[in-house]
Formats: sequence, C-alpha cells, structure tokens
Amino acid sequence: MRFALILVFLSTLVSAAVADIPAGEDALGTRSYDDYERPEVCAACHVDFYQQWTQAMMSQAYVHHWDEIEYFELAIPHAEKDEKVAGVKAGCNGCHAPLSFLAGDVPPPPPGSGSRADEGVSCDLCHTITGFAGDIPYNFNWISEPGRMKQGPKPGLVSPHHDTVENEFLKTADFCGTCHNEMSPYGIWVKSTHLEWSEGPYAEQGVPCQQCHMPKAMGRNAKMSEPDLVAQHLFHGAHDEGKLKGAIELRMHPEERETEWDSSAVIKVQLFNGKAGHKIPTGSVEDRILWLHVTATDSEGKTYHVPVDAKGFAGEEYTIAAETLAYQDMGIAKEIPDFAGVQRDGVSGDDMDVGDRIFRMPYFDPQGRMTIQQWNTSSLGVDYRIGPRETKIETFTWTLPDDIAQGRVVFTATLNYKKLVEPVAEFLNVPDDETETIVINTASTWIEVYE
Ligand code: HEC
Ligand code: HEC
Ligand code: HEC
Ligand code: HEC
Ligand code: HEC
Repeated sequence: MRFALILVFLSTLVSAAVADIPAGEDALGTRSYDDYERPEVCAACHVDFYQQWTQAMMSQAYVHHWDEIEYFELAIPHAEKDEKVAGVKAGCNGCHAPLSFLAGDVPPPPPGSGSRADEGVSCDLCHTITGFAGDIPYNFNWISEPGRMKQGPKPGLVSPHHDTVENEFLKTADFCGTCHNEMSPYGIWVKSTHLEWSEGPYAEQGVPCQQCHMPKAMGRNAKMSEPDLVAQHLFHGAHDEGKLKGAIELRMHPEERETEWDSSAVIKVQLFNGKAGHKIPTGSVEDRILWLHVTATDSEGKTYHVPVDAKGFAGEEYTIAAETLAYQDMGIAKEIPDFAGVQRDGVSGDDMDVGDRIFRMPYFDPQGRMTIQQWNTSSLGVDYRIGPRETKIETFTWTLPDDIAQGRVVFTATLNYKKLVEPVAEFLNVPDDETETIVINTASTWIEVYE
C-alpha cells in the first residue's frame, strides 16, 4: 500500500516536472535573457565552433536583411491589422530570435541595436534544449532548460565552465525539426524540411540532418581538449553556393540524332536530386525559385529559346514561367488598396523566358492568390519540387524554325536558382545578394539538321 502510494507520488512528480516547462507558444515570456549565456562566453574555449557559427545563418537569424524586412515591413503591420495572424508578431521570434521570445521581448528592438535578439539562434539556446513537447516537432516546440548543464552528443566530457550531459535528442532530425517544420495560423504546413526528410530514403537509412549540415571531422571541441571526431557547426544551406551547386544533376538527349530541316526535334532532360536529404527547394519554398531554361544554337550561331512541353497535371500553370501578376497580399501591410501585385516569376528574357519549367509548390492566401507570406497561407498548390533521390524528366518538342541553318544544332539546359523571386525583392528593396542567379547545373546535347 505504502509502496503504491510512493509510486503515485513519484509519477505525479515526474509528469508535473515535464508539464511545468512550457514549450512552443506557451513558452512566451517564461524566461529572462540572463538565463542564457552569450556566444562570446563560449568562444573563449570553443574557438572553431564559434567562428563557424558566426558565418552560418544561425547567427544571422534575426539580423539578416531579408528577415528584418519581412518581419518589420510585412509580418508586424499585417499582424496588427488581421486578428487571424496576430500571433506571428511574437511567433516569428520563436525560431529567429528565440531568446527574445522566451524573455517576452516582442517585437524585439530592430536588428543592430545591441539587444540580445541579435544573437539569433545561439549556442546556449541549442545546448540547453532537452527535448520537445508533443508528437511532431514544429513551431519551436523544443523544451528549454537553461543553466550550468549543457546538453551535448557525448558522455562524460569535462569542462571547467559548465557541466555536460549526453543527450540523444541532439543527434536526431527531430531536434532540427522543431524549427524546420512550420504550421501557419491556417493549419497549413508552410515549412516541412523535416517532414520531407522523414518520408524519404535518408530517414529510412538513418542519415539525420546533422550528417550533411554538421559533418564530423577530426578536430577539437574546445581549445584545451583532446582531438576527436567533432561535429562541425557549418549549417550550410541556400546561402552557400557550394552546397547548392550540383545538388541536382542534369543530363539530356534527343530522341533522334538526325532531323530534317522542316520537322521537329524532341529533347529529354533528366533532373536527379542526388545530394539533398529533402525536396529541392525546401524550407522557405514560398521565396525560392528553381527553373530550367533550354536554348538551341544552330551552326551559324543563332540562338533560340525552347519552351517545355506541358504535362497536363492540375495546377501546372504555376510551374511554367509566365508574365502574370501575384503576391497581391503584400498590399495589406503596405496599405496599398487594390494592390495589383508584382510579376509572379521574374521573366526577364535573359536567364528566364516564358515557357521555362519551374520546380515549386505555390502558396495561396485566403483569397486564392499566390503569396510569399507563409503566415498568410491557407492552402498549397501542386507540389512540383524534386524529392530526395527523385528523378524528373522534362520533354521539349521544338518545331525547327524556317530559317534554321543546316548542320549541328546544340541544345543547352541550365538549371537556375534564386533565393527570392526578383520582382518581390525589387518591390521591397531587398539587397541583391538574395536574388543573384545561381547556376545549379548545366547539360548539353546536339542534333544534326539536314535538307
Ligand atoms: C572555460 C572553457 C569553456 C567555456 C567558456 C565553455 N566550454 Fe563547453 N566545454 C569545454 C570543454 C573543455 C569541454 C569538453 C570537451 C572535450 O572533452 O572534448 C566542453 C564541452 C562542451 C559540450 C559538449 C558536451 C557533450 O556532452 O558532448 C558542449 C555542448 C558545450 N561544451 C557547450 C558550451 C556552451 C554552449 C558554452 C557557452 C555557453 C560553453 N560550452 C562554454 C570548455 C568550455
Ligand atoms: C531554434 C531553432 C532552430 C533549430 C533548433 C535549428 N535551426 Fe536551422 N535555422 C533556424 C533559422 C531561424 C534559420 C534561418 C536563418 C535565416 O536565414 O534567417 C536556420 C537556418 C538553417 C540553415 C541555413 C539555411 C539557408 O538558407 O542557408 C541550415 C542548413 C539549417 N538551419 C540546418 C539546421 C540543422 C541541420 C539543425 C539541427 C541540427 C537546425 N538547423 C536546427 C532555426 C533553427
Ligand atoms: C542550431 C543548434 C546549435 C547551435 C546554434 C550550436 N550548436 Fe553545438 N551542437 C548542436 C548539435 C545538434 C550538436 C551534436 C551534433 C551531432 O553529434 O550530431 C552539437 C555539438 C556541439 C559540441 C560537441 C561536438 C562533438 O561532436 O563532440 C560542442 C562542444 C558544441 N556543439 C558547442 C557549441 C558552441 C560553442 C556553439 C556556439 C558557437 C554551438 N555549439 C552552437 C547544435 C547547435
Ligand atoms: C543527404 C544530405 C542531406 C540531408 C540528410 C539533409 N540535407 Fe539539408 N541540404 C542538403 C543540400 C545538398 C542542400 C542544398 C540544396 C537545397 O537547397 O535543397 C540542403 C539545403 C538545406 C537547407 C536550405 C534550404 C533553403 O532553400 O533555404 C536547409 C534549411 C536544410 N537543408 C535543412 C535540413 C534539415 C533540417 C535536415 C533534416 C531534417 C536536412 N537538411 C537533411 C543536404 C542534406
Ligand atoms: C518554426 C520556425 C520558424 C518560424 C515560426 C518562422 N521562421 Fe522564418 N525561417 C525558419 C527557418 C528554419 C528558415 C530557414 C530555412 C529555410 O529557408 O529553408 C527561415 C527562413 C526565413 C526567411 C528567409 C531567409 C533568407 O535569407 O532566405 C525569412 C525572410 C523568414 N524566415 C522570416 C520569417 C518571418 C517574418 C516569420 C514570422 C511570420 C518567420 N520567419 C517565422 C524558421 C521559422
């Protein structure tokens, strides 16, 4: 009897302890800035990790220009006008400035004012996460237990500055998923990098995010420790050209090598996602644009654009470059009544033409218009992205122009990427580095044209 009572008492204690630590939205204002140490403190001993972190987007999560513009010029004004999305005023910070969220300092002072929001996703935030609440990691539902104890991947490490404990959670993809899955106020998955991963081949083979974004190498954890295999804090993604380049492999071939001048050529392009553990693009899918541009150059050097063949699936119009307008909901925050929107894709006639294939998943606002405001997303369109280890084939049927020169015609395919669709960046004055075109890969093939 007494034993049973003690058991009941103990289990109440345990569940009370877990329930006592609020996570996700409930954690707003439950801590103070002083509960967390600054990255500069860790830098004194963890020299390499600190420098790596300062170069990764984690340290820029609050101060980066595009984040600043989107939060202060779109999200906050929108949250103040529309009750449905009011929560994002605090919520963006749950992932981008977690210390401010925990301290209830929302919205935080603007970037660069020296507030602790500027730390972004800091060392002490990640290394005091003990687990997550619920079944699916999303919307910053990590559990934070700041203090002397630092959560790490290895058992029994000794530090003069803090205690350490091995925590399996840090080695899992779920850890990353707490911030890399996001659900909008309308209940739509607007960021699903972890969910994409969990349905793909890498999860099945036990390859978590860390293996590709925090690769292990011989080095030192701290300047006074023995060399060991240690997890490099690279977190390299869309802001690292080297990570993007070659992420999709391209090959192409004609159905027939020789063609009469008054007929047509059929070219096939294979696109293989051989490098990423999730779909491409992933994460901020509403911002990114990935497109395939094909040209033909005849033996006299004249170049023609070759549009893709439509496949006929529902929603395909969003995956073929066109000169149409979109993103009208930016007018809400900008207070432009009946805002007509800006160009959807950024057709330039330069590296993008009408008829190029776009690999994307469109996000729609409650009025059914395409949006880059993930918090204002109430439905998703067709998912025409390239999954992990998936290969897509695109066909280009091209009626040879009347004046084509005889001889060899060379076809070139270029797979281009921009972190942010150009017309949106121009409208909001986002600096150019967010819209530079990055060539992911190229391929070429040829046919012989005869009379
Ligand atoms: C005075 C030096 C010093 C400072 C300051 C310091 N650490 Fe450490 N830390 C160490 C040493 C030494 C180790 C053990 C390394 C080893 O044996 O490989 C360590 C280990 C760790 C580990 C690994 C634990 C494990 O179980 O794998 C983590 C995580 C960690 N520190 C985080 C931090 C964070 C976060 C900060 C800043 C808030 C910080 N440290 C500040 C010296 C320091
Ligand atoms: C506390 C929230 C949080 C956790 C936990 C977290 N991330 Fe992130 N991560 C972010 C935020 C916010 C950004 C975006 C920074 C920006 O661009 O403003 C980011 C950016 C990145 C990027 C760079 C993306 C780009 O556009 O270049 C990579 C890669 C990344 N995270 C990987 C990981 C991995 C791997 C893990 C798990 C080991 C992880 N993250 C855990 C919040 C988090
Ligand atoms: C986005 C979350 C995140 C941030 C920010 C972060 N870390 Fe880590 N850190 C991790 C994860 C996850 C691991 C374990 C990776 C693994 O073993 O797969 C780790 C591992 C470590 C280790 C042990 C490495 C090893 O392999 O033995 C140390 C020490 C450490 N981090 C210190 C730091 C310091 C110092 C900073 C800031 C300069 C920092 N971390 C920033 C998530 C983070
Ligand atoms: C097999 C290696 C691999 C695995 C596993 C992997 N990634 Fe990636 N990741 C990549 C490559 C390559 C890229 C660059 C191409 C791209 O943008 O998709 C990338 C890009 C990213 C980006 C930037 C996307 C963008 O457009 O901003 C983020 C964020 C990211 N990964 C997070 C994660 C998270 C979180 C996980 C685990 C749930 C994970 N990755 C698993 C290889 C991997
Ligand atoms: C659940 C966590 C989470 C929430 C909530 C969140 N973000 Fe993010 N955000 C991320 C992560 C992780 C990335 C980077 C990963 C990627 O792009 O693949 C990111 C990327 C971004 C980027 C693109 C950065 C770049 O340079 O390309 C912007 C801008 C941004 N977020 C703004 C916001 C705003 C504004 C809000 C609130 C309306 C918000 N975020 C809410 C996690 C979050």
